[in-house]
Amino acid sequence: MSITPTMNVQTCVEQVCVGFESADLYYGHGTDNAWDEAVYLVFTVLGLPFGHDDDSQRAVAQRTVSADEWQHINTLAQRRGTERLPMAYLLGEAWFAGLPFHVDERVLVPRSPIAELIVQQYQPLLADAPTRVLDLCTGSGCIGIATALVFADAQVDLADISGDALAVAQKNIERHGVQARVRTVHSDLFSGVDGDYDLIVCNPPYVSAQEVAELPPEYHREPVLGLLSDEDGLAIPLQILRQAATYLSPGGVLVLELGYTWPLFDQRYTQFPVTWLDFDGGGEGVLAIGRDALIRAER
Ligand SMILES: C[S@@+](CC[C@H](N)C(=O)[O-])C[C@H]1O[C@@H](n2cnc3c(N)ncnc32)[C@H](O)[C@@H]1O
Repeated sequence: MSITPTMNVQTCVEQVCVGFESADLYYGHGTDNAWDEAVYLVFTVLGLPFGHDDDSQRAVAQRTVSADEWQHINTLAQRRGTERLPMAYLLGEAWFAGLPFHVDERVLVPRSPIAELIVQQYQPLLADAPTRVLDLCTGSGCIGIATALVFADAQVDLADISGDALAVAQKNIERHGVQARVRTVHSDLFSGVDGDYDLIVCNPPYVSAQEVAELPPEYHREPVLGLLSDEDGLAIPLQILRQAATYLSPGGVLVLELGYTWPLFDQRYTQFPVTWLDFDGGGEGVLAIGRDALIRAER
């Protein structure tokens, strides 16, 4: 990628995009194509806001990019190609439910469709705003913190088995100024938490060993602890389904992501009367089930 004397945001994005298109990249950590990934990089480095109206978008496109700015952008663009790092790690930031979160290689890059449910305040699943919420397998804390921000009175626990992940989650708690209501809990699934939660929301590991081995290089930059689960990916989700009732309040709800393993679960474990959620923005394999249904399923 060469330096163009009159480079502006538009030409800068175009050059980065061309570079990405000629590299063997895999998208799936917040964007799904070279152009969006280039916009994400250029706008983040330049501190430009996303989602403008047409007039301000045109003004942003014409903004001059200095030689120093271009050099910084170009260095990151090159690293994206040579190191196959997800862009979020290079930028130290990912967006989830319309909010920025610090991320690095200690946590998975946020991408759960649960974001859409959070923005909709979990409607129509919850009759009332929850008082206590557990974000189990929290990683960066994105799900629990975003949930805390839509339910201003909720106390939220962010639980993870990884101390490294909890350090990132703590950073994000402070970034969003929710220290008074949100805390991290070191816990192997439910072992370190204390019910009753009105809402347990969880994006657990659900990828089998064979599938992990076959994933594109970008996924191998993420902590394997965040992906790997035995029994065709279903071991950890099943443990959660079998234990969650004990930690739910009467009327409490479990929201659990199984991703693309959901048809396998649906076929094998018919005793759980789950509701599969639909997402306008794409994504699949998120179930909801109430405490009473969980208790009945285990009888
Ligand atoms: C798929 S990542 C989800 C991270 C985050 N919730 C998100 O949606 O981006 C799964 C997380 O579960 C954690 N984890 C794995 N096994 C666990 C266990 N037995 N108990 C608690 N957390 C666990 C991992 O450390 C990882 O942070």
